[in-house]
Amino acid sequence: MGLRGTMGINERGHLEIGGCDVVDLAARFGTPLYVFDEELIREQCRTYQGAFARHYPKGRTIYAGKAFLTIAMCRLIAEEGLYLDVVSGGELYTALAAGFPKERIYFHGNNKSREELVMALQAGIGCIVVDNCFELAVLDRLCEQLSCQVDILLRVTPGVEAHTHTYIQTGQLDSKFGFPLAQGIAREAVRKALEARNLNLRGLHCHIGSQIFDLESFGVTVAILFHFLDEIRDELGWTAEELNLGGGLGIKYNRDDSPVSPEEYIAYLARVVRENAGRSRLDLPLIGVEPGRSIVGEAGTTLYRVGAIKDLPGIRKYITVDGGMGDNPRVALYQAAYEAMVANKANRNKTQLVSVAGKCCESGDMLIWDLETPHVVPGDLLAVLCTGAYTYSMASNYNRLPRPAAVFAYRGSADLVVRRETYEMLIANDVLPPRLQGLEVRSVEQA
Ligand SMILES: Cc1ncc(COP(=O)(O)O)c(C=O)c1O
Repeated sequence: MGLRGTMGINERGHLEIGGCDVVDLAARFGTPLYVFDEELIREQCRTYQGAFARHYPKGRTIYAGKAFLTIAMCRLIAEEGLYLDVVSGGELYTALAAGFPKERIYFHGNNKSREELVMALQAGIGCIVVDNCFELAVLDRLCEQLSCQVDILLRVTPGVEAHTHTYIQTGQLDSKFGFPLAQGIAREAVRKALEARNLNLRGLHCHIGSQIFDLESFGVTVAILFHFLDEIRDELGWTAEELNLGGGLGIKYNRDDSPVSPEEYIAYLARVVRENAGRSRLDLPLIGVEPGRSIVGEAGTTLYRVGAIKDLPGIRKYITVDGGMGDNPRVALYQAAYEAMVANKANRNKTQLVSVAGKCCESGDMLIWDLETPHVVPGDLLAVLCTGAYTYSMASNYNRLPRPAAVFAYRGSADLVVRRETYEMLIANDVLPPRLQGLEVRSVEQA
């Protein structure tokens, strides 16, 4: 079992995170509960920052807020000196409400609305990552109207798609994101951006995939980007001050995963950027990376209370928990595989194979297939590991299940960072049209 960060097993045989016994956390905050190991999040931030300081001082770690964003998370990221990538008005609003330094915010998205762009310009955020020609024109016009200028990057698609151990060079045009480098499309976008009177084109952005273990895919991408920059310098006389290489570094969800450390990743990027810049005789650009999962993924654990247990002899034993695809849609969406442990029996021998089912009305609402556990009874506490990224941020109220609370556990104390939703919150936005207000509810016989 891959215990991570500050996780340990205490003398009561219970799982501990951040010096807190999770059995006590479940009793205090209820279940399901997202527990974040604050020390581990900070450690990941510092590993990135330290790696840049050692290997490429002109580097920026830009936390991808889509992985997990709350006001407390924004504060933590700000304290650690990171930049922040937001992709919607809602994420931007959260960052601004947290007092996140606006000049350290990058705004992404392939269909930013006019209102979102105005919000970003009025807030004076650091940089907008422009995805398409429509946005380029709208943004320039909005700057004109608001009498402001803004720094931009152009998102390009280098034709490399990477996931886990493999990558493919597709040269693909077929992506909803960015300007393809192929067919002169990105070149034309650079030309247009340089002509725009209110936009300051600082550089390029790309993101090639997620849960990547294979550094070579980044190397190939860097080489393709420099090849493009080389051409563009000759054609348009423009060179990029900044190259943002997106996120995507993989993490260890389970024993089959063999991720590369952020230190190795940054050292590798530093080397390939230097080599390519030297070969193209280009000045070293500022390099940005946008890790989400690798900052917060392993730091998160979800606690569930075990309820119904159903043993189908010769087929399978299901243990059902009080959450599921509502608080973690990744299994249903991507067949994501997680490890888990019975947190109140963390020292006991594993004697059986079970599958962990969620409580939603979907057969696909399974959290784990084939998990080895000790004997489990209703009321036990199941801890699913490595759930920090893309769980709370993708959670839904399917079946009108309230979304869980989240806590940061740190050096022996735990603090709420997201309140548990209540039933009142679930109906807070429901509206009764006037024609339904006066109706008496009739019995079936009357109807
Ligand atoms: C543009 C961009 N940057 C960064 C990320 C973060 O990726 P990860 O959480 O895999 O590091 C994503 C994820 O989809 C993304 O689309």
